[in-house]
Amino acid sequence: MEHQRRALVRWLLGTGVGASIASFLYPAIRFMDPPDIPEAPVNEAPAGKIQDLKANSGKIVKFGSRPVLLVRVDESEWRAFSAVCTHLNCTVQFRDDTHQIWCACHNGLYDLHGKVISGPPPAPLEEYTVRLRGDDVVVARRT
Ligand code: FES
Repeated sequence: MEHQRRALVRWLLGTGVGASIASFLYPAIRFMDPPDIPEAPVNEAPAGKIQDLKANSGKIVKFGSRPVLLVRVDESEWRAFSAVCTHLNCTVQFRDDTHQIWCACHNGLYDLHGKVISGPPPAPLEEYTVRLRGDDVVVARRT
């Protein structure tokens, strides 16, 4: 009888402890190894209002999970490029003093067509299309 009670207590403790450990470990393991879910393709993304960006300025906007540099060249001309430097993936920025796109990491310079002017970037920046819809600015992937 005593032997059976001890076996029952051992079984309850064993399963309770095991279940507790499993309840802590399972979410941690699932977090470290998430299921493969492909990122939904993004072809167009809102980039703010026209009045939010003055002429000769730029800002980074989100295009899905990627950064895009939106540039308002003047009152009517807009451009957009991937903000990921083609050298080592730093984020580029618009320089209003030189009217160029600059990567601060290794002093890479691009013109306002995304072409490399100087520095180590090996390739131009991918260009996006900018569409104005009413007051809204929309950035779209080129087809
Ligand atoms: S990462 Fe941009 S110049 Fe090196």
